Amino acid sequence: MNDTMAASSHRIMLGPLVAAIDQGTSSTRFLVFNAKTAELLSHHQVEIKQSFPKEGWVEEDPKEILQSVFECMERTCEKLTQLNIDISNIKAIGVTNQRETTLVWDKETGEPLYNAIVWLDLRTQSTVERLINKTPGRNKNHLKHKTGLPISTYFSAVKLRWLMDNVDEVHEAVVSHRAMFGTVDSWLIWCLTGGKSGGVHCTDVTNASRTMLFNIHTLEWDPELCKYFGIPMEILPRVRSSSEIYGLMKICSSLKSGALSGIPISGCLGDQSAALVGQMCFQDGQAKNTYGTGCFLLRNTGAKPVMSDHGLLTTVAYKLGRDKPACYALEGSVAIAGAVVRWLQDNLGIIGSSEELEKLAASVGTSYGCYFVPAFSGLYAPYWEPSARGIICGLTQFTNKSHVAFAALEAVCFQTREILDAMNQDSGIPLTQLQVDGGMTSNRLLMQLQADILCIPVVKPSMPETTALGAAMAAGAAEGVSVWSLSPEDLSEVTSEKFEPQINPEESEFRYARWKKAVQKSMNWETTEPVGNGNGESSIFSSVPLGFYIMGSMLMLIGANYLAGHD
Ligand SMILES: *[C@@H]1O[C@H](CO)[C@@H](O)[C@H](O)[C@H]1NC(C)=O
Ligand SMILES: *[C@@H]1O[C@H](CO)[C@@H](O)[C@H](O)[C@H]1NC(C)=O
Repeated sequence: MNDTMAASSHRIMLGPLVAAIDQGTSSTRFLVFNAKTAELLSHHQVEIKQSFPKEGWVEEDPKEILQSVFECMERTCEKLTQLNIDISNIKAIGVTNQRETTLVWDKETGEPLYNAIVWLDLRTQSTVERLINKTPGRNKNHLKHKTGLPISTYFSAVKLRWLMDNVDEVHEAVVSHRAMFGTVDSWLIWCLTGGKSGGVHCTDVTNASRTMLFNIHTLEWDPELCKYFGIPMEILPRVRSSSEIYGLMKICSSLKSGALSGIPISGCLGDQSAALVGQMCFQDGQAKNTYGTGCFLLRNTGAKPVMSDHGLLTTVAYKLGRDKPACYALEGSVAIAGAVVRWLQDNLGIIGSSEELEKLAASVGTSYGCYFVPAFSGLYAPYWEPSARGIICGLTQFTNKSHVAFAALEAVCFQTREILDAMNQDSGIPLTQLQVDGGMTSNRLLMQLQADILCIPVVKPSMPETTALGAAMAAGAAEGVSVWSLSPEDLSEVTSEKFEPQINPEESEFRYARWKKAVQKSMNWETTEPVGNGNGESSIFSSVPLGFYIMGSMLMLIGANYLAGHD
């Protein structure tokens, strides 16, 4: 459809539209899709400020998060109006958000009682160590049979415990039965459905599964887990499926147009789960990899939660409807993916932009035997080796920066292969193709390399906003909305690009074997006790400079992965 031509004269007839709020760690977006074609019609994005009050602490302002949602809604509606698209065609709103980030607010005043503690915050490190030391055999996986998770700073329960122990306002509100706990999804849905005047306090199974308070088998809050962490169950949101009407948008003064009032909020999915849905990975065994600062690889394991023997997390992928079964996923992450490009750019200055990296790497088409292991703060799945440090090896007189650039891209691919191998071993069935999304997938050389190194095709959708699309699909498919059916035929207009392996498997195995050799060389480097941390807590984070915390999600991934697999 030619928007500009049609827009000049009359309203465009598009049929039902579905919107998604995508509230990420560094920005908020509001996106509107055509439910028939999955086409992205318009969107707006606003950055979110993060504050770092102490080393390792990461906070965001809940009211700024809410305000950013209003601003994105307002601006997107304006853009749609300029395109002559009728806003009243928006039939549902889905939410996808950063996971694990923890908030507590007062249900009578509607005011947050502290900043949101962001998922990558490490203030609970000592709490986590204390909890683990109390378990029989100092077992990080003590609760895994119920939660699918290791005890780690990553998840909400310990952040909530910290808030109750350290913030008087939170403690008092809990004692006087005024406290509400939630992840960002719960906070937004409560505010948008009326807040202190009747707001709906809920979350979805995917969010709940990352709190460490949720039993992933019964799909309910677990009284024993709540007791273990000392969390009163009355402050927890009600757990709903990922696709049902939670409540209707209330008219609110913050939203000038009021245009969206009355629209059902009917989809709620964790960002990585939403990407799985947006990629239509509904079959047991399908997997997607999102390439951002790090990589998140999720593999649908169907109705059965698979417990990993290779350091992966077990998580609820989605539950698309009240009466639908829950689907589970294995999740593995690569800590340093896009971050390696930033490192070459900011720390070494050998490239000016990520496009330049692709150009340099493409100009040589080989690393000429150079391998780059970006183990900046240790190695993760499947090695779990905190003593490793980054290396660039195999250098000769011939090596130049183009080869290093190529090796950096290959490192992302090799790391993904290692996660995939772990997944294949855990699930027993090798993956036959990998679906990908995220910022780095615009690098075509990277995509081709990934296919070559995995020896399976890599499939990239032409519409890159799969996370928001997944949230919109869940919202549009909810009972009572039903403008989107989640069958593959309905998304037949979604086109994708396929990268087939082009090198022979022997060459691929040879390169992968060399990579593994390079990984061995990176190990046992940092063997001294970390310094500058007088209380004797041994932690891989202690020796990491502050700058790394600021590099976003990366470090958290390091933490989560390290804790996940290091038994
Ligand atoms: C929680 O729900 C939101 C949608 O409200 C979603 O974006 C987010 O990814 C979910 N969190 C998790 C951990 O799945
Ligand atoms: C690196 O070496 C290769 C092979 O000799 C050459 O083609 C390429 O231009 C060199 N790149 C740079 C940046 O010098």
